[in-house]
Amino acid sequence: TSDDIYLLYHGLLLPKETHCADSLKFAQEFTFKDDDVLAVTYPKSGTVWMQEILPLVLNGGDLTPVLTIPNWDRVPWLEEKRLALVVDQLASPRALVTHFPYHLMPPSFHTSKAKVIYIMRNPKDALVSSFYFHQMAVFLEDPGTFDEFMDKFLEGRVLFGKWTDHVKSWRHTELGDRIMYITYEEMVQDLPAALRRISGFLSRNLSEEAIQKITEQCSFNTMKANAMSNFSLVPKIYMDPDKSPFLRKGVVGDWKSHFSSDQLARFTSVIQKELEGESFSLPWS
Ligand code: PPS
Repeated sequence: TSDDIYLLYHGLLLPKETHCADSLKFAQEFTFKDDDVLAVTYPKSGTVWMQEILPLVLNGGDLTPVLTIPNWDRVPWLEEKRLALVVDQLASPRALVTHFPYHLMPPSFHTSKAKVIYIMRNPKDALVSSFYFHQMAVFLEDPGTFDEFMDKFLEGRVLFGKWTDHVKSWRHTELGDRIMYITYEEMVQDLPAALRRISGFLSRNLSEEAIQKITEQCSFNTMKANAMSNFSLVPKIYMDPDKSPFLRKGVVGDWKSHFSSDQLARFTSVIQKELEGESFSLPWS
């Protein structure tokens, strides 16, 4: 039953396979350091990509971490079980990822100077990516039909709740210049330019040569071939790449081959309504 699969945390569904009461307590008691860097995403918006990018940018393009440490230990999730096991091995400056909405961030995050990169992806593509992820991730509930899954997504009956709540929460922060916003689409369109923005934000002066090297290492195809980044180390009883690989397509606009015109109208009207009055604009049609 779904009670075996998910736990409810402040109204959000989280998978029991990767989260538990202890891991959530650990997250709330976690002590952020001033030089920590946190990448924040709604699920399926570029998390694993940032787990590749951040260690490279922070270490001037040194490939060692991305070639020797699985992504979930290299740049752990704040809220997941693994963090407690690896936290002592993380070298500073540490990089972390989280799917938490802003209001669930722990106290030490607010008093630290840790920097944040918020990555937003077109919710239509995040939905499609999530639909396939639910087919391959054996520890998640079967998504049902695409139409059924879209309803769940729009109602927030999915991992980490509604996309609109997540995006809005991270736009209404007191973080000032501690936070930078970037989109998945920007990264797909011009990764070197995205890397220059990210390295500038993190006060790393990377040579053009380093930017090129990181671009190559973080390309979809290189990541797909990197055992430390493609989830091939996860046993098939947890993730079945024959159903759908984790690094699935890595493109912009795959929603166009999944949405009917009715579904597009329904989706657009719900999202637009929930974003009414927001000052930020969405860079997609
Ligand atoms: S998760 O489960 O929330 O951590 O998933 P997340 O990593 O956020 O999102 C997975 C999608 O990101 C794509 N991805 C990439 N796209 C382009 N280039 C690179 N290098 C890259 N790395 C990961 C991944 O393929 C998933 O998107 P889809 O659309 O399913 O391919």
